[in-house]
Amino acid sequence: MRPPTRRGLVASALALAACQRVEPASALGLPVPLKSAAPFPVGVAVQAEQLADPLLGGVVASQFSQLTPEWQMKMEYIVEDNGALRFTAPDAIAEFGSRHGLRLFGHTLVWHEQQPKAFVDLDGTRFRQGYANYIGSVVGRYRGRAVGWDVVNEPVAEDGDGWRDCLWSERLGAFEYMRLAFELARAADPAAVLLLNDYNLEYLPAKRTTFLKLAEALLKAGAPLGGLGTQTHLAVDLQPGAITAAIRELASLGLPLHISEMDVSLVRAKGPAELGEEGRARQRALYAEAAHAFITLPPAQRFAMTFWGLRDRDSWLDRIDAADEPLLFDDSARPKPLLATVEAALGT
Ligand code: G3I
Repeated sequence: MRPPTRRGLVASALALAACQRVEPASALGLPVPLKSAAPFPVGVAVQAEQLADPLLGGVVASQFSQLTPEWQMKMEYIVEDNGALRFTAPDAIAEFGSRHGLRLFGHTLVWHEQQPKAFVDLDGTRFRQGYANYIGSVVGRYRGRAVGWDVVNEPVAEDGDGWRDCLWSERLGAFEYMRLAFELARAADPAAVLLLNDYNLEYLPAKRTTFLKLAEALLKAGAPLGGLGTQTHLAVDLQPGAITAAIRELASLGLPLHISEMDVSLVRAKGPAELGEEGRARQRALYAEAAHAFITLPPAQRFAMTFWGLRDRDSWLDRIDAADEPLLFDDSARPKPLLATVEAALGT
């Protein structure tokens, strides 16, 4: 007699559940769907092609409650060289969300890294008009479907000494390009939550301070800033407690927070590559700390917790080093033990 398979165990648990109404997955110590474990939206970065795959689309729909286009809602996809706008992929992602009841989160309208030729070729008032047209067209297209937007992404200098220079700041003004982007997004969608998003806010307290001062300046200028995104791209060298300190300080403004792009690299640590058990133990601890820090926020400040990809192989980090295993699902889209770690930290 062959030993029971995992699939067989789950099938028998489901059958048992039908008779005895026990929680099938947890009866076997299997993680329940992540969105069932979290009392707040849990998101995942996706590409349209992944959602078109029945297996991947099924896992995304069953595990998550929010979608962030990983790159297909950015200027690099939408803005063609002649200035035309293309929406095939973001429309497909939005349609998947509508079909499966997942929230759509727009990422991102304005980013220093995205400077399309069509904008570079504009000058004077045509530049400002093009900027307004872009934000109005993109936000307006998903009005009523996008729950929120990263309106401005990564505005703060890495050392915390001011804000990054970019095409947008050069053409419209260092602060004005950000204030105006929020104003234009609100005009296009009166209900969407409009966020400011940045990274390394755990690693760099000085950057975090400047980020918070920018948020306060936007609010003082009347910008409809409705939330703060902390990307949370981590490596296993991050000191315990740094995530908690960052979440606590970012929450001090009282705005909703979005852990917007979480992954924990095993190989990008400043020290020796930590692919062994020590690295994996630190990775588990960081995921648990982030989940615990987030769930201890007041419910009104828990916008969402988003993971930056489904499978390890989908991660931008795997495109840097294929040995990395930064996410919650393995290359076959099965839950890794990290999923149970996150759920345990959520109190499930
Ligand atoms: O899939 C196409 C492929 O068909 C095409 O042949 C190829 C050549 O152009 O491009 C491929 O798309 C690439 C896409 O990643 C999918 O791999 C894009 O060029 C590439 O620009 C895109 O990179 C994304 C990057 O942002 C820039 O948009 C990464 O996936 C994405 O993970 C990364 O995400 C950023 C966040 O937006 C902001 N925070 C940091 C984070 C990581 O860098």
